Amino acid sequence: MKRTHTCGALRISDVGSSVTLIGWIDVMRDHGGIFFIDLRDREGKTQILLHPEYPGYAELVAKLKPESVIQVKGTVVARDAANVNAAMPTGAIEVRATGIVVENISQTPPFPMEDGKTEKVNEDLRLQYRYLDLRRPSMFNFLKVRHLAVTAARSHLNDNGFLEIETPYLFKSTPEGAREFLVPSRVNPGQFYALSQSPQQYKQMLMVSGMERYYQIARCFRDEDLRADRQPEFSQIDIEASFIDREDMYALVEGMMKRIWKEAIGVEIATPFPRMPFKEAMNRFGVDKPDTRYGLEIIDFTEDFKKSGFKVFASAANGEGCAVKAMNAKGLADATQGEMKALEEAAKALGAKGLAFIRIEGGVWKSPILKFLSEDEKAALAKKLDIADGDLVFFAADKWERACSILGRVRTDCAKLLEARGKLSIPKDKYNFLWVIDFPLMTYDEEQGRFVATHHPFTAPVVEDIPLLDTNPHAVRGQHYDCVLNGWEIGGGSIRIHQPELQKKVFEDVLQIPKDMVESRFGYMLKAFSYGAPPHGGIAFGVERLAAILTGRSGIRDVIAFPKTQKGQDLMANSPSEATPRQLKDLHIALSLPSQS
Ligand code: AMO
Ligand code: AMP
Repeated sequence: MKRTHTCGALRISDVGSSVTLIGWIDVMRDHGGIFFIDLRDREGKTQILLHPEYPGYAELVAKLKPESVIQVKGTVVARDAANVNAAMPTGAIEVRATGIVVENISQTPPFPMEDGKTEKVNEDLRLQYRYLDLRRPSMFNFLKVRHLAVTAARSHLNDNGFLEIETPYLFKSTPEGAREFLVPSRVNPGQFYALSQSPQQYKQMLMVSGMERYYQIARCFRDEDLRADRQPEFSQIDIEASFIDREDMYALVEGMMKRIWKEAIGVEIATPFPRMPFKEAMNRFGVDKPDTRYGLEIIDFTEDFKKSGFKVFASAANGEGCAVKAMNAKGLADATQGEMKALEEAAKALGAKGLAFIRIEGGVWKSPILKFLSEDEKAALAKKLDIADGDLVFFAADKWERACSILGRVRTDCAKLLEARGKLSIPKDKYNFLWVIDFPLMTYDEEQGRFVATHHPFTAPVVEDIPLLDTNPHAVRGQHYDCVLNGWEIGGGSIRIHQPELQKKVFEDVLQIPKDMVESRFGYMLKAFSYGAPPHGGIAFGVERLAAILTGRSGIRDVIAFPKTQKGQDLMANSPSEATPRQLKDLHIALSLPSQS
């Protein structure tokens, strides 16, 4: 029953050998009495030739269907020169079948299973039949690259003295950011675990334990709104080390990325990575994870519009913490009404009150706001934005961070429109790694109406900013670093607080977490820090995001064997699903469901 070769192995040098192959029928064709089958496994395809004199030929041929699994015994023969397929590694030979065993007949698949065609099929249907979708060579390759990337990361960390240590998934609720999945405890009625969002607190405890260098390919669970780059469960390359500073972490990670790129896709990347302060990233690119492969940078005009006749700009230019910003979408003056509307809506979703613009067509500036602008203002715009015929300029006048974010979004949307028109080319094989640093320790959260930790509450303040914790806490920078690649945040981490007094101060005075909550959520941590805690820091990388970039995907679903839909469902296994009354009773849970309307 055993195969002698994979379907990708046979070459001209094998002619004459007796072989056994096993795999799926990729395609089959009847050539006037001679039957050809392309037999496929994950390593490739081999052409099988079945002669009419094969016993039971007609019956067999009538039975076979694409995607069935068959075993083929036969002899390797050279193809006639005219039939050699140079595009196929096995294209010089074929196998003349002497014995075929049918292992499993396939039903007709619900969609064409062919790279280039399957991608156009409704994704829900593909997810329902994920095992078929994964049978395609491209999908196998995505998972293989992911595997190679994780293997390279492990090798690098092993070589640097890191120990792989597992930590619990059943943890407790901690205010670390995302909403958590709760798991009821049967033996502790009314009590719940939370699935670990990340091993953050456990890995810090391992540092207190003296492990010094830890890593884990950790599953993480977050009940978040899902997007192209977010799944409710995902994996991190999670790292923590003692007695290190930020520079050590940058060097460790740069070495790891070098190895991942080399071993997963054979690409040499340049190190060290450039570094950019958060403020600069926001000012130039309108986002803390800039794609620096193209320009369309944002320019500040706050000073230029202080005395403007356009009230919207003048009031922002003079407002506390406000700014006037502009971005030249070079060559996009031909944007359609629909495209302009979509850009404006995207801006409004970020809180923009409007999206003023100037179109430059036939050398003439056209805009509803033109009449309000002075000659000096126009001259400043023309100069700083390098305005030329065919350009389209957008403005945002708002709170500084919001003005930046609005144009950051407009920038990426315009880049897509320009790419589609062939006016901008964003190189797919360019890897612009970047460290974004000097984040504020805290960020104002509009939804919660209070300051929250920008990274998480265990992040250490920059040492020289510590005195500001009492006088101007919002100006304090954190020892936080994000690793960014081509517009994706691929990883983030920080040097941690390791002194209980400072940690307590950050919880209570800075983040204003009530004392009793600090005690119930973090009491054990503060206690641990009072028994000799080493200085330590770490980082975590999203495995799926790395794999998506390595394989050139625009989202992470293709590099996950069994991803969830936007609504968090597994359409193949049909989960989530209802619990039985018995299960609920055991857990002391009564349901109170919203009424069905
Ligand atoms: P953070 O929350 O920034 O940091 O997560 C680290 C990295 O994990 C990836 N990631 C995700 N990938 C897919 N789906 C998601 N829902 C998702 N959420 C995050 C991203 C991100 O950069 N404990 C800290 C790390 C530390 O301080 O050491 C943490 O979890 O690539
Ligand atoms: P208005 O005079 O309010 O009709 O605005 C004139 C133009 O400015 C319109 O195109 C608005 O979309 C735009 N606009 C209004 N408020 C802002 C703002 N805060 N930032 C940028 N553009 C704005």
